[in-house]
Amino acid sequence: MGITSTIAPDDYKKFKNFLENACGITLGDGKQYLIASRLTKLLRTEQISSVSELLAAIQKGQPSHLRDQVIDAMTTNETSWFRDCSPFEVLTKEIFPQWDLDSKKHCKIWSAACSSGQEPYTISIALSEYIAMTTTTNLNSAKIMATDISASMLQEAKRAEYDENIIGRGLSSERKQQFFIRNGERWRVADVIKQRVSFKEQNLLAPYDSLGKFDIIFCRNVLIYFAADRKIDILHRIARSLNPRGVLFLGAAETVTGYSDAFDMIRSDSGVYYRLKD
Ligand SMILES: C[S@@+](CC[C@H](N)C(=O)[O-])C[C@H]1O[C@@H](n2cnc3c(N)ncnc32)[C@H](O)[C@@H]1O
Repeated sequence: MGITSTIAPDDYKKFKNFLENACGITLGDGKQYLIASRLTKLLRTEQISSVSELLAAIQKGQPSHLRDQVIDAMTTNETSWFRDCSPFEVLTKEIFPQWDLDSKKHCKIWSAACSSGQEPYTISIALSEYIAMTTTTNLNSAKIMATDISASMLQEAKRAEYDENIIGRGLSSERKQQFFIRNGERWRVADVIKQRVSFKEQNLLAPYDSLGKFDIIFCRNVLIYFAADRKIDILHRIARSLNPRGVLFLGAAETVTGYSDAFDMIRSDSGVYYRLKD
């Protein structure tokens, strides 16, 4: 089914508004092809022939899972192990040692758009590597909360088992051997890495006070899809979710500049991160 040519300008506008309000993602002008490429399969399965019919079905809530499936299909879930490297170097070379110097306890970390789990499991690997090379540390009890809007991504993340192609993206063979267990054609995340991580569905547009406070937040490669007012609101609420002197990591193409003055930008030898101002 080729729906691109059949998306009327008014329907395109309505779909754009629906997506913006549902998950914050802003579609630019002329992205009909994106809707077509991401939704054709779903529309075929649900026997829906146009975007206007789709929007009506979502509004009626029939079928009930349709809204979530559309959000799932429209979100970009691209991720990899040790993505961009530098945040994990900052963690092991600066943030974790400082944590121990300050004698802080029970570190709480939030991976706020965790996709299929590579980011929170990478943080957990970084923790294990740091713990292994440190004689005394308070980070043994560190916990990682990983959230995403996508139920299907969370399901994959919780399964904690990846095929060779996915494993190959960013993971050295030493780390693969050390932190994963072969299971036929797939690789399972070792329990020591998995047990620190818990998963929860969370839309970044919805309140997250109930998640509690964190010492370190990763919110990477998601704000880039949002309009300026959304970034301002989310960064404001992320700042409120951090403990004093808490740390925020954004994606390589993201910044707080122009959206929040709650943070100091720290340029260290290992990379850039943001620290909550006193
Ligand atoms: C490109 S991935 C980034 C994954 C990981 N943080 C990384 O940098 O590798 C973006 C993730 O953001 C999630 N996402 C999109 N909109 C969201 C929202 N409103 N609330 C929470 N997660 C959202 C998507 O489902 C997707 O898994």
